[in-house]
Amino acid sequence: MSDLLSGKVVVVTGAASGIGRAIAIGAAQHGAKAVIVSDVVEAPREGGPNTTSEIEALGVATRFVRTNVSKRDEVDALVAATEEFGGVDVMVCNAGITLRSDGAGVAEDDYRRLMSVNLDGVLFCAQAAARQMQALSKPGSIVLMASMGGIAGAGMTVAYSTSKGGVVLMAKAMADALGPSGIRVNSVCPGTIDTALLRNTPGVAEASEGFRQRTPLRRLGKPSEIADAVVWLGSDMSSYVTGIPLLVDGGLLSVL
Ligand SMILES: NC(=O)c1ccc[n+]([C@@H]2O[C@H](COP(=O)([O-])OP(=O)(O)OC[C@H]3O[C@@H](n4cnc5c(N)ncnc54)[C@H](O)[C@@H]3O)[C@@H](O)[C@H]2O)c1
Repeated sequence: MSDLLSGKVVVVTGAASGIGRAIAIGAAQHGAKAVIVSDVVEAPREGGPNTTSEIEALGVATRFVRTNVSKRDEVDALVAATEEFGGVDVMVCNAGITLRSDGAGVAEDDYRRLMSVNLDGVLFCAQAAARQMQALSKPGSIVLMASMGGIAGAGMTVAYSTSKGGVVLMAKAMADALGPSGIRVNSVCPGTIDTALLRNTPGVAEASEGFRQRTPLRRLGKPSEIADAVVWLGSDMSSYVTGIPLLVDGGLLSVL
């Protein structure tokens, strides 16, 4: 499709399914040298071939590395797996979960489980990538997956919104910390994207038709449209962009 990511080694967490899968495949389509697919499971939630099979079919080097992002030692092993290709250039911290029961009365164990993936997992991945980039003096790009729910709150997703708001600020703070090393850190805030996560989250699934009707573009987003934004942030085309939350929401948060 393009050579925007030519020569770059890309790691994507939560890349078996949905948005992460589209990002991993998109990275291969845009010329990445190697794409490391990371997830707790290998099979896509929505069915179809594994992400690595799709990437191999494009003739791009790929590996699947089973990783629970909430475990720091597993995340460190994931980043170490890039050494055979010369280290990570673009780290996409995408893995995230929703709860079947969220809201003002969210249970403590659910809240902690969500934070361990959506906040701890994103931090551990960004830290591990940054350490390796600094050790190899690489001007890397780290992309954190937030959400429109990290900019505007929703009563039905109190824990989720809290985690994603944290991710938006994490990107800003990490951009400040890592900018002097030439490492950029940005967050992406998808709107309503048609994935298994959206379809299977109680409350959100029902609300998505209302979101669609209020979205200026009057449709849900496609995972590939988030992938396009991430490819741009990973590429040198965005070389002076760091710390931003990039909204990709069909205009939903821009209107009353
Ligand atoms: N779909 C949307 O509308 C939407 C909107 C805004 C933000 N997001 C965010 O985009 C990201 C991807 O969402 P999606 O819709 O593709 O979801 P998805 O459920 O389709 O895919 C998420 C993937 O993450 C993996 N995963 C879950 N826990 C993990 C863990 N502990 N370690 C590693 N991998 C793990 C799952 O196995 C799955 O393959 C999430 O961070 C989500 O919060 C999605």
